[in-house]
Amino acid sequence: MSNDTKSNGRGKWGSRIGFMLAASGSAIGLGNLWKFPYITYKFGAGAFVLVYLGCIALVGLPIMVAEMMIGRRSGLNPVGAFKKLTNRRIWVFVGGLGVTCGFILLSYYSVVAGWALEYTVKSVRNDFANHQTITDKDIGAHLFAEYIKTPKSKSDPIKAGYGSELSTISFYDLKSPKAKKAFLAKLAKAWGEFAKGKPEIYAKLKSNTTASLLDAFQRGDDYSSRKLRLQRSLWVGALFGKFVASPAKVVGWHLLFMLLTMLIVVGGVSQGIERASKILMPLLLTMLVYLVIRALGFSSASESLAMIFRPNFHALTIEAVLEALGHSFFTLSLGMGAMLTYGSYLSKDESLTTSSIVITALDTLIALMATIIIFCAIHAFKMPVGDGGVSNLFRAIPAMFQETPGGNWLTVIFYVLVAFAALTSTISLLEVVVSYFIDERGWSRRKATLLMGSAIALLGVASALSLNAWANFKPFFGKTVFEFFDYTVSNWFLPLGGLFVALFVGWVLPVEAKRDELKGLPAVAFGLWHVTIRYISPLAVAGVFVWLLYQSIVA
Ligand code: PHE
Repeated sequence: MSNDTKSNGRGKWGSRIGFMLAASGSAIGLGNLWKFPYITYKFGAGAFVLVYLGCIALVGLPIMVAEMMIGRRSGLNPVGAFKKLTNRRIWVFVGGLGVTCGFILLSYYSVVAGWALEYTVKSVRNDFANHQTITDKDIGAHLFAEYIKTPKSKSDPIKAGYGSELSTISFYDLKSPKAKKAFLAKLAKAWGEFAKGKPEIYAKLKSNTTASLLDAFQRGDDYSSRKLRLQRSLWVGALFGKFVASPAKVVGWHLLFMLLTMLIVVGGVSQGIERASKILMPLLLTMLVYLVIRALGFSSASESLAMIFRPNFHALTIEAVLEALGHSFFTLSLGMGAMLTYGSYLSKDESLTTSSIVITALDTLIALMATIIIFCAIHAFKMPVGDGGVSNLFRAIPAMFQETPGGNWLTVIFYVLVAFAALTSTISLLEVVVSYFIDERGWSRRKATLLMGSAIALLGVASALSLNAWANFKPFFGKTVFEFFDYTVSNWFLPLGGLFVALFVGWVLPVEAKRDELKGLPAVAFGLWHVTIRYISPLAVAGVFVWLLYQSIVA
């Protein structure tokens, strides 16, 4: 906020644009650029995107209005707000849940935000241009890895007499294409069990297969351009793999990102952030538009688009629906009090509905643009997606920019923008926790920021390590610490918080208060929103929860 004049450290937004920038800054972040494209990939796109859009319209948007309403009505943090607006203690628990969510969410969010810092440095150093480092041997290894992913026959190579044949012939001794084809077919058949317990047979099969695949790759059309793309694709993959495997780097950037967030929240520079947002947000949009245009220029673009937007409801699981629902909260910063807290600094004359619609539309637009860019690039470069998509943002963009004149500097700007977008989100997360300790515990802003920021940073180390040193530590339902935090907070606690917000505003807050908060809104629009917040949003969230719990009990 612009003027922190009151002694308790609370203030009001200096201007309407200040609030809009901060609230959209909170919403727009890694959720749009990193997480949405990644989970869309993971859950097979198509119907997933459609369900997500439905959740945004029927659940996210109405709840955003409701959350800002609670904030502005009370002028307090999530816990204080419920205390002030009702005398039923049970609601205070909802505020407490929100503050806890903010604490945990920030701890792992800052880890990924740190990746953007590393990638800014990498692009300044022009690391992405070193794709020649990828040799034919690496390409062969990649082709082999892709090859064994395809299902093979279960036939035993030894019993088929194939083992001895292997020792006498090599692929290159075969002259006719027909014989080569037959050899490859036989080889493919021999895979499957691949000579379990016989490492020498395995090694032989592997080296022969690799050689023949590489040979076929080299003989195909457009060899040099295909090779270049594959080199770039493998190189950006190798860079990412190497980076996340380093605990010191991942932890270090995470701590630095937390420090940056704390410095801003402790005071003084929020005006600077407002000013920077005015330039950087439009710049981010411009850059995304440019990338979308480039992405649509790939010859495989129409296939990629079909994959993103053609719904296939058969492939849709209930887990995917939960993920889409959870993400609609995550991406709009809902269900944990961030919009509530920002709303508490908002003056009476601003329209909650207009603000919510603008923020939601912008956020959705950016998520869709990022997804189009990343899907098109992943396909065009035939990138292997071994990690389920977590690294997509950090591979697709550098690879694309390598094909653009001046691309290296554009990569620098891009990752600065990603880091900035993440920063305006982490600020809002820390603000929720800090405002609670200021309002309810009487702490100073400095003390609250320092203590809570440090505690969150410390917790985040566990998430940072779950990518490397603790990658095999999966104590929670086969999930690493990072995955578990994200899964529980995003998919369960945020929607749960949102459900309570909807119930509170729908059923507990007096109608006059709601009308007063939304005055200026036509009666029909008010009625529509009111029905949605009372029935549709809570039933949608509760419906998904019940359906999922039912499935897990029955299954
Ligand atoms: N909405 C932010 C994003 O999409 C993340 C966030 C969630 C921020 C909850 C604040 C509160 O990146």
